Amino acid sequence: MVDKPVIVDKVSKTYTVRKRKGIFRSEKDFVQALKNVSLEVEEGEIFGLLGPNGAGKTTLIKILTTLILPSSGSVWVNGYEVSKHENEVRASVGCMLMGERGLYWKLTGRENLEYFGALYHLAPPLRKKKTTEILDWIKLEDIADRTVETYSSGQKMKLAFGKSLINDAPLLVLDEPTNTLDLPSASELRAIVRQLNDQGKTVIYTTHIMAEAEMLCDRVAIIDRGELLALGTVDELKTSLGWAKIIHVEGAIPARAVQAVRKMRKVRQASRANKNGATELTVVSEEGSEILPELIRVLIQNGANIQKLSPEEPNLEDVFMAKTGRSLADDTQVR
Ligand SMILES: Nc1ncnc2c1ncn2[C@@H]1O[C@H](COP(=O)(O)OP(=O)(O)O)[C@@H](O)[C@H]1O
Ligand SMILES: [Mg+2]
Repeated sequence: MVDKPVIVDKVSKTYTVRKRKGIFRSEKDFVQALKNVSLEVEEGEIFGLLGPNGAGKTTLIKILTTLILPSSGSVWVNGYEVSKHENEVRASVGCMLMGERGLYWKLTGRENLEYFGALYHLAPPLRKKKTTEILDWIKLEDIADRTVETYSSGQKMKLAFGKSLINDAPLLVLDEPTNTLDLPSASELRAIVRQLNDQGKTVIYTTHIMAEAEMLCDRVAIIDRGELLALGTVDELKTSLGWAKIIHVEGAIPARAVQAVRKMRKVRQASRANKNGATELTVVSEEGSEILPELIRVLIQNGANIQKLSPEEPNLEDVFMAKTGRSLADDTQVR
């Protein structure tokens, strides 16, 4: 049981906060950030933790990296119980939390990396070598000898990511590492994550952006309001919906063709609408591309002229919506 990079067993976390009641009075209040969450991360995978703001992602990451303790349940990281072996856990994890706030702004980028290297007891020559290597990876060599306070927000974010690589840990834990990065920098960062993963590192990656989880992660856990809603590969999550697949057909489509399509065995629904002068047929089916050959044959046999045909699979957004009745995109646009 202990050889997995991460085992989370029935973890709950309740924060106690003081709620102000007037000027001199306050009372205790409780926020349940995690509710009975269990999951395991396999060696060598990129494991995504996907959920809207306030879902509990950072809370779970803080527990994994020993910054806070769970209220109940147990967590093992690289074989060590987090509440008993804090030092071993920290030594075996490369962590990016709090983004730029985890850096010393009065030190240069290079000094930051060397300083954190020293905290991990790297000998000076190794510290320097790793620092140079990381600055090259994250493309910050040009500004490495400037103080961090002069960096742009994106540059700080990249350096914070670089910091997580300094101890060359087998497990990388990254909390929304592309937050505040522009699109090219975000995709560069993901490319480095992939490269590190190819070299054997296990990665835990939190994000509130579905497309990012879909692009990068081998398996994804969807969490919302402290609860684990779903876990699996992106494909598993999509098929777990058992939802209908959607196919759009554009062209000249006579009524009898629509009727013929409705009679097809795997078709649940077919409806026709006008779109920019052409007719668009929307087919709702239990299968996606599998029914395409038959669909095309039936349409042509019934006098249709097909100009465009596009199957559309449900995405992670559909999975989130199916489980919560809310849209993840709506939730995250609020900020
Ligand atoms: N230190 C804290 N004290 C009280 N409540 C907190 C604290 N940190 C987080 N929370 C609450 O716990 C919930 C989960 O927060 P968090 O783990 O940061 O979510 P996420 O990272 O997914 O946005 C939120 O409701 C948040 O307000
Ligand atoms: Mg967070």
